[in-house]
Amino acid sequence: MSPIDTSIGPDRARELFRAELADVRTDAELQALRMRWVGRKGSWVAAFMEALATATPEQKKAFGRGANELKNEVEAAITEREAALAATRQPANAVDITLPGRRPAFGHRHPLSLIRDEVGAIFTRLGYQVLEGPEIEDDYHNFEALNMPEEHPARDMQDTLYLAEPLRIGAGQPLTLLRTHTSAMQIRHMEQHAPPVRLVAIGPVYRKDNLDLTHTPMFHQVEGLVVGKGVTLADLKGTLAAMAEALFGTGIGIRFRPSFFPYTEPSAEVDIQCIKCKGSGCSMCKRTGWIEILGSGMVHPAVFEAVGYDPNEVTGFAFGMGVERVALLKWGAEDIRLFYENDLRFLEQFGL
Ligand code: DAH
Repeated sequence: MSPIDTSIGPDRARELFRAELADVRTDAELQALRMRWVGRKGSWVAAFMEALATATPEQKKAFGRGANELKNEVEAAITEREAALAATRQPANAVDITLPGRRPAFGHRHPLSLIRDEVGAIFTRLGYQVLEGPEIEDDYHNFEALNMPEEHPARDMQDTLYLAEPLRIGAGQPLTLLRTHTSAMQIRHMEQHAPPVRLVAIGPVYRKDNLDLTHTPMFHQVEGLVVGKGVTLADLKGTLAAMAEALFGTGIGIRFRPSFFPYTEPSAEVDIQCIKCKGSGCSMCKRTGWIEILGSGMVHPAVFEAVGYDPNEVTGFAFGMGVERVALLKWGAEDIRLFYENDLRFLEQFGL
């Protein structure tokens, strides 16, 4: 910065000013520049005005105009630069738009919800209706109407969780237990609807089981029921084969093994080909090549009689499948408890 010296004349001073202005970067530098050029005392402009006051008429003529132009230019340029600096200044709470964005955390549907929805979609395509139903049941719907009268040994097949106090709602039987299977929904639906029937009922069921690799006291089932004229075991097998292919992949084989359930006759347990070894035998299928996935059969005439259907008019098939079991098989998981521990590292593996 050169010392203030009016003898260089206003035009040269103006060039100096422009050079100094070009170097200004901050508000503080701009304030200093303002003081130096248009401050009341000791500034370039003040010096020119003083010089003018004592100048001869000839000198006034020579640079009076230039001094005024200098003053105007300096003031205008400083005001302009002040506005420019203000426009680039960040407010105190400014957002740094150069930071990388924060990835939004998406929720994930629970793996069991994915299976439930997939099974529901498979049967919706086949023309079934998808139902839910009450989890607290009475003895009649859970056992008796399913051909398991009191003292029937089949009741020992399931260890039932009973309510401490029966619940009385409306005129029906008192509700005494948590349903042990979704088969209760067969009865509830047929009581209210004439045949034909084509339904799946999906939801939680409860048993007095201790937690281990394959048991939880609450788990989920898919119940299927088809009733109409001329429904046969072949329809059951074709339906389950279609479901197995849709769930586990085209070409997966199924087989029926004779079994017993009080509410079906004949009854069968159904296996799918081991999805790990494709049937050749591995540790997952205990070297058999097959894995059990559900129970099924032709609806027992006693069940039809309980709901007022004529067993000479209609026939039907039914099946019940564990949702957790399907999920474990499909994803090759080994511990059913993972579904209930809410560990995000597990839950986030299954898509949205
Ligand atoms: N209720 C049986 C269970 O919980 C499964 C089952 C077997 C359901 C045969 C059915 C059936 O509808 O026909 O293990």
